[in-house]
Amino acid sequence: MKNFLTVLTAIALFGLVACEGPAGPAGKDGSTGAAGQNAGFVYFEGFKADLKCAQCHAPNDVDTTFRVITKEIQYETSGHKELGNYDRNTTTCAGCHTNEGFFERTQRGVANETFTINAASGPMVNQNYPSSSPVGCFTCHAPHIRGNFTFRDTVGQVKIFSLVKENTTKAFTGNTSAQLCVKCHQPRMTSQFLIGTTNLSWQPSNVVGTDTAKIYTSRWNNHVSGEGIQTMLGFGGVEFTGNTYTNSYHSTALQNKTLACADCHMATPIGNKGGGHTFKVGYIPEGSTTTSYNFAGCNTTACHGTSGVIAATSVKWIGVRSEMIAKVSQLAKLMLDSTVVGKWTVKKAGKFNPWVTFTTNASGDTVWAANANTGANALQITPAYKAGALWNLQMAMYEASHGIHNTAYTRSLLDASIAELKKP
Ligand code: HEC
Ligand code: HEC
Ligand code: HEC
Ligand code: HEC
Ligand code: HEC
Repeated sequence: MKNFLTVLTAIALFGLVACEGPAGPAGKDGSTGAAGQNAGFVYFEGFKADLKCAQCHAPNDVDTTFRVITKEIQYETSGHKELGNYDRNTTTCAGCHTNEGFFERTQRGVANETFTINAASGPMVNQNYPSSSPVGCFTCHAPHIRGNFTFRDTVGQVKIFSLVKENTTKAFTGNTSAQLCVKCHQPRMTSQFLIGTTNLSWQPSNVVGTDTAKIYTSRWNNHVSGEGIQTMLGFGGVEFTGNTYTNSYHSTALQNKTLACADCHMATPIGNKGGGHTFKVGYIPEGSTTTSYNFAGCNTTACHGTSGVIAATSVKWIGVRSEMIAKVSQLAKLMLDSTVVGKWTVKKAGKFNPWVTFTTNASGDTVWAANANTGANALQITPAYKAGALWNLQMAMYEASHGIHNTAYTRSLLDASIAELKKP
């Protein structure tokens, strides 16, 4: 009987919405729609028996358990919602960019996912999701079917692949919440430049050879989503011989479960600006135009709280970040200089072809992309392995923490790349 009442309540709530106007004609899949498609989890996952709606759908003074409203407000400013790329909803993209696509992945079991870099799409999702919604509460949690906010997906160990020829996949052994992030914050399985039969770009390699690298796409990188986790694992860059590559404590701590993404990205919230469900470390305070940072996650007892508190002026913060930003810029400028990289660059229409182009993004940062074109206009570099410096530039730039995720590895990659290009 209780179950029946709960369902009735749910129907009554939905009914209210339906009362607003005359019903439109049935869609192409009939009045009930195709099973489980474009309906949103809220609807097709169902409700737990005896679920008390008012426990969560209530003001904060009633919902003292979960404080759902607070999280909803914080989430409005999260990149997941704010950046708006949830229109990337086809089979190759929806698995990470949409609520619905990730649900399909979890239904099939993310534990069994194996991504093949040369496959046309990778076993991402089986269908397009034309009316997709952004990654949201129901992507990471399953509140209606469970009545709580445990993680929807609790499968451990994500295998991260690398596009560098000699590398093999590396298992990320972080804690449950970090595993959740990395299901999506990993390289794109549909790595375009290696797919197809024509215009295949050079696959980065650590091996010194004499062949020519041809690069046909300005997106010759790990899709912005893979550089972070690869950096945290200390691999995925082109490692020039004769250099040493080391890792910082953050890398170790993430892998031995002492530290999680959430510790820094979801630290004690500052209203709806930073921390908590904004997932932001950097935020713009009220009445300001410059970025502040939420250091609550850094300065906990087990971490920097006891040994040198982190602040905006700390060497471990501004020192590291300015160093990496300067080195990225220095490396990119070498790639614009014909006297430096000219000797390894195949001329285009008789003229020097710089390795990078640059634009300024909304945050005022310079974005360096491979200066690539299709067909005969590919960016061509001989010997090919020197192009590894361009790969590493992309690694360090899209590892958007500017060295905080793994200072030592980012520094090693940048230093080795600069030294490599300075060789005669
Ligand atoms: C454990 C917490 C929890 C309980 C209990 C709960 N909900 Fe929800 N519900 C949520 C969350 C979280 C959302 C998503 C809010 C968001 O996206 O901002 C949601 C969304 C919804 C939506 C969609 C609202 C929209 O704006 O699209 C409906 C409808 C809904 N719930 C109905 C119910 C009904 C009916 C019950 C009781 C049978 C119920 N909920 C019980 C947490 C809960
Ligand atoms: C493995 C999961 C994954 C897949 C698959 C994926 N993306 Fe993404 N994508 C991400 C993540 C995560 C980000 C945000 C990364 C960040 O900002 O650090 C992102 C960022 C983006 C951005 C904004 C940054 C940029 O490069 O301009 C665009 C646009 C984008 N993706 C398009 C696509 C398209 C189109 C597809 C399908 C062809 C796709 N993505 C497939 C995870 C994925
Ligand atoms: C991208 C994944 C993600 C999304 C989307 C997300 N959460 Fe969470 N949520 C988390 C993580 C991770 C934690 C644990 C944070 C920690 O360990 O500090 C959490 C914790 C929570 C908790 C605390 C759980 C408890 O019982 O103590 C609540 C409540 C919650 N989330 C509600 C929401 C609501 C409401 C939304 C939508 C507005 C939402 N979450 C969206 C990842 C997510
Ligand atoms: C279901 C896939 C998915 C999960 C799970 C997920 N993310 Fe994301 N995340 C994305 C995508 C996709 C974007 C880019 C959104 C866009 O461009 O519209 C993104 C964006 C972000 C951004 C903003 C990036 C920017 O460039 O400003 C941060 C920060 C972030 N995620 C952190 C996290 C953390 C921390 C977790 C785990 C608690 C997590 N994400 C879990 C898919 C996911
Ligand atoms: C030691 C703290 C720390 C940990 C752990 C950490 N990050 Fe970050 N992350 C940062 C900082 C600091 C930035 C730069 C923020 C800024 O400039 O606003 C950043 C930037 C990012 C960005 C770029 C978007 C943004 O908000 O600037 C993404 C996406 C991201 N991290 C994802 C992750 C994921 C996924 C994990 C876990 C696998 C993780 N991070 C672990 C500190 C951390």
